[in-house]
Amino acid sequence: MEKEIDFNQPIDRLNTCSEKYDLRQSLFGREDLLPMWVADMDLPSPPFVLKALQQRLLHPILGYSLTPLEVYQAICDWQAQHHYSVEPDQIIFTHNVANGLFLAVQALTRPGDAVMVMPPIYPPFVKAVSLNDRVVVEAPLVFDGQVYNIDWQRVEQLIQQHQVKLLLFCNPHNPSGRVWTREELIALAEVCIQYQVKIVSDEIHSDLVYSPFKHTPMASLSAAVSQQVLTLSSPGKTFNLAGLQIGYAISANPQINAAMQAACARVKIEDLNLMAMVALHAAYSPDGLAWRDRLMQHFSANIERLDAFLARYLPQVRLIRPQASYLVWLDFRALFNDHQALKDWLVNQAKLGLNDGLSYGEAGRGFMRMNIAVSQQTMEQALSQLGVALSKLA
Ligand SMILES: Cc1ncc(COP(=O)(O)O)c(C=O)c1O
Repeated sequence: MEKEIDFNQPIDRLNTCSEKYDLRQSLFGREDLLPMWVADMDLPSPPFVLKALQQRLLHPILGYSLTPLEVYQAICDWQAQHHYSVEPDQIIFTHNVANGLFLAVQALTRPGDAVMVMPPIYPPFVKAVSLNDRVVVEAPLVFDGQVYNIDWQRVEQLIQQHQVKLLLFCNPHNPSGRVWTREELIALAEVCIQYQVKIVSDEIHSDLVYSPFKHTPMASLSAAVSQQVLTLSSPGKTFNLAGLQIGYAISANPQINAAMQAACARVKIEDLNLMAMVALHAAYSPDGLAWRDRLMQHFSANIERLDAFLARYLPQVRLIRPQASYLVWLDFRALFNDHQALKDWLVNQAKLGLNDGLSYGEAGRGFMRMNIAVSQQTMEQALSQLGVALSKLA
């Protein structure tokens, strides 16, 4: 990699149309807080991605574009690191991964069909179902005090009771940070195959898995399982490219693939946008792998900082250590039994803007999600603000 980047220098994002910063007043009621919510990073995108974008902009025409085969191939090569064998003709572009969830629900179910989700869950999973007039069937994960697990009995019982047609599965899971084991995925796939439940596996966080955990793509388990699955992914999280609106879907099942293509065609989604295509191609490269490894070290250090702070000053707050990604799920229930009081304390005393646990469902009551993809300096600032708020605790 050509240039060392210092992840420890804060970058000013004001006046860059950043959702994370510009929504502070309307979401939290004040401008003067440190926003550590929506899942993008306050860290730079890789220089080799920025360079590819700058290079493309040297040409003055940004007309209709056509994604070349080498970009499809870059996706196949990237997925091969996870031992997931993908053919170019199995790839369908979406405009981002959340948009892929909505399209997949339209493609694979009909109005009135039951679709299963596993809360606490990233909110668009639920919206993709309810806004498309399908029925949300919740099979909440079970928290054992350390990690979240699938409630196997409940899943099977609910599938039978509601004749569930589709499972929207988050692999790795947001917000719990859980990386599912191969054994868990096999067991889940078996249940889905038994009851003919198709699976949409959202794998957007799959590149950011902490050792010793390993990501297993649901569709890579076996030929039979791959016939049941539509995978969704993107370089958006790993390389901090959410603003470019990148997403893709993959299915080895010709019927699922055709249904997804038809859903895209109905709303005239055909291709990646030009800048997304250039960025994806540059990111999905050997340089991208090295960048990802450096990022993971930085995230680990920030998680350690947070963990050490909580252990020393706020032992009542439980950090659910993420097995993947830079979103930390925090259990404040031993500190506050009133969720609104917790929110007020974080906003008005700690001056931190975190994701409200309740936005992930009732299972998130008493929890908050903190985005630690920030510089070391910003992380330390956040901890010192928590320290100030501590002294204001009743
Ligand atoms: C599980 C999951 N899927 C999808 C998204 C959104 O991805 P995109 O910006 O590509 O829509 C996120 C963002 O946080 C996410 O956590």
